[in-house]
Amino acid sequence: METLVEAEGGIDMTNQKKPIQAVVFDAYGTLFDVHSVMEACEEFYPGDEKMISQIWRQKQLEYSWLLSLMERYEPFESITRRGLIFALRSRNLPFDEPVLKRLMGEYRRLGVFPEAFAALERMKDRKLAILSNGNPEMLEPLLEYTGIEKKIPLLLSVEEKKIFKPHPTVYEMAPDFLGIPKEEILFVSANSWDVAGARSYGLRVAWINRARNQQEELDLLPEIEIQDLEELADYVANN
Ligand code: LAC
Repeated sequence: METLVEAEGGIDMTNQKKPIQAVVFDAYGTLFDVHSVMEACEEFYPGDEKMISQIWRQKQLEYSWLLSLMERYEPFESITRRGLIFALRSRNLPFDEPVLKRLMGEYRRLGVFPEAFAALERMKDRKLAILSNGNPEMLEPLLEYTGIEKKIPLLLSVEEKKIFKPHPTVYEMAPDFLGIPKEEILFVSANSWDVAGARSYGLRVAWINRARNQQEELDLLPEIEIQDLEELADYVANN
C-alpha cells in the first residue's frame, strides 16, 4: 500500500503542468459567432435563416475535411461560398450573384462573443494568437472590422500549409511560430472536433462549450471545459 501511495505521488509530480505561456484561439465559433449571419439570411429568406446558417456552417466544415482527405486545397472563403450555395439549394431557395455577395460579406462582419474583449484584456500577459482555417484575405477584414486585431497580434492561417484542421501540420504552426513548446501553449476552441485535433497533435486544450454539447468519443479530451471566454481568463490566470 505504501509503495502505491509513493508511486501515485511520483506520478502526480511528473504530471504537474508547466505555466501557460501562450493562448492560441480558433476563430470561427470561438471568438466570432458564425451564426450571426442569420440576420442577413432572414432579410432574404425569412423563416429559413436558422436552417441556412446551420447547413452553411456544417457544409463549410465538411468540405474542408473532404478536400484535405483528397489532398486538395481551396481557400476557406471559397469553400464557405460553396457551403452557402449548398445550403440555399438544399432549401430550394432562389439566389443570384448579388445575394451571394451580400451573404458572403457577412463573414467579414461576424459578431464577436460579448465577453471576448474583457477576457482578452485579462490574458494580455500571455502571448496571444489566432490559428484558423480562414485565409488571411477573409480573416483580416474581420479582425480589423471587429477590432480583435488590437487584442490578438498574431494570425496563423492554414493558408500557409494548404491543408485544413485537424491535420497535425496546422497545429504545429503554433509552437513553430511562437517558439514555445507545445506543452506550454493552451489552444482554445469551441469546436469539439478541433479540440480533438489539437489534443491529438499534443497541444494543451480548453474547450469552450457554450451550448453544453456532448463531448466527442475520440479519447482526446480537453484539460478544461468551460462555458465562455471569461471562464477561460479565470483558468489562464491560475495556470
Ligand atoms: C476556424 C474554424 C474551423 O476558425 O472554426 O479554424
